[in-house]
Amino acid sequence: MSAHILLVEDNTDYVENLKEIFEELGHEVRSVHTCAGAREVGKGWLQVALVDLKLPDGDGTALARQLKDDNPDCEVILLTGHASVESAAEAVRAGVWAYLIKPCAVPDLLATLDKATRHVHAQQEKRELARRAQVAEKLAAVGTLTAGLSHEIRNPLNAAVLQLSVLERRVRKLEHTQQGPLLEPLTLVRDEIRRLEHIVQDFLQFARPLQLAVKPTALGPLLQKVVAFIITDADRRQVGLEADTSQASTIAGDADQLRQVFMNLLLNAFDAVKEGGRVRLSCEAHPDAIAVHVDDDGPGVPAEHADRIFEPFFTTKSKGSGLGLPITHAIVSQHGGTLKVTKAPLGGARFTVTLPRATER
Ligand SMILES: Nc1ncnc2c1ncn2[C@@H]1O[C@H](COP(=O)(O)OP(=O)(O)OP(=O)(O)O)[C@@H](O)[C@H]1O
Ligand SMILES: [Mg+2]
Repeated sequence: MSAHILLVEDNTDYVENLKEIFEELGHEVRSVHTCAGAREVGKGWLQVALVDLKLPDGDGTALARQLKDDNPDCEVILLTGHASVESAAEAVRAGVWAYLIKPCAVPDLLATLDKATRHVHAQQEKRELARRAQVAEKLAAVGTLTAGLSHEIRNPLNAAVLQLSVLERRVRKLEHTQQGPLLEPLTLVRDEIRRLEHIVQDFLQFARPLQLAVKPTALGPLLQKVVAFIITDADRRQVGLEADTSQASTIAGDADQLRQVFMNLLLNAFDAVKEGGRVRLSCEAHPDAIAVHVDDDGPGVPAEHADRIFEPFFTTKSKGSGLGLPITHAIVSQHGGTLKVTKAPLGGARFTVTLPRATER
């Protein structure tokens, strides 16, 4: 299990040594030699810190407290050349994970680091679950309200569309020169109403408890259909869409709902890239599941938004409803799958949907 490790130590030889060992094990390592540097570099990144007790601008125990304030899930391992009962007691009070005496045998250090890493990952997972539960609660509350509201909005909207076509027919009967200035605003109103309809439809879908019709579904053909449907959209926006579904196999799923999942992710990717950008859909086979990646070469999801993009109504688009990802997430979760966002090899965002394989009967 790998971690983001921060080394806070002013003995450069020792630091280089540890860095090499940790990096070889797959950890990401950063090193600093002051308390101030540690707080700056560690903030929002650090998972496990190895801190020397005596630092040029302060004391390791106080730093441990600050690091844990800045990064609530992190763990700190204190290293010291001269142990005393007082400093050990102080370290325990500061909530450090372990207190090791230098020179410390590498296997001991690695074992301690491994335990701390596992603990940090478990804590972070717990926090993520709590956050998801909160989102689910918000979804449920909002759902009931929007279901009622959306139905109410739909009726007047339908009436407006009907009247609009009456108006349009009348305008078309006018002389040609008079038609232009009247038709243009009419088209604008029609487009805006379509947009409203789209939002209302999203709301309704979101509010309705999902009824899945799960059966063994060939994922490859399903993905190919989505791509065939959306390719004109890609062409119109001058986005290069590639799809490799060779690793796709049969999963347990509801084809209609899953089509929506991949449509949402692909449309988001189209929105994220510039003209001439690239979007790539690919599959990865795992023993019990199939992972589908939707990658793009856009700017990616900024760290400050990563937590929020699955929240209902969170959007950075002027014409977005912010319901695409929450709906997608709900559908995938109901399939017993997962939806994760990471960095794509293309440079932008990678959204990965993992779905369980169909079980053989
Ligand atoms: N591929 C991506 N790259 C970068 N940011 C993304 C990507 N996909 C989604 N996002 C971010 O997540 C936000 C929420 O996405 P979501 O699909 O839920 O809503 P939306 O696309 O804004 O609106 P809607 O889907 O309802 O039209 C987006 O506004 C955008 O900021
Ligand atoms: Mg969207």
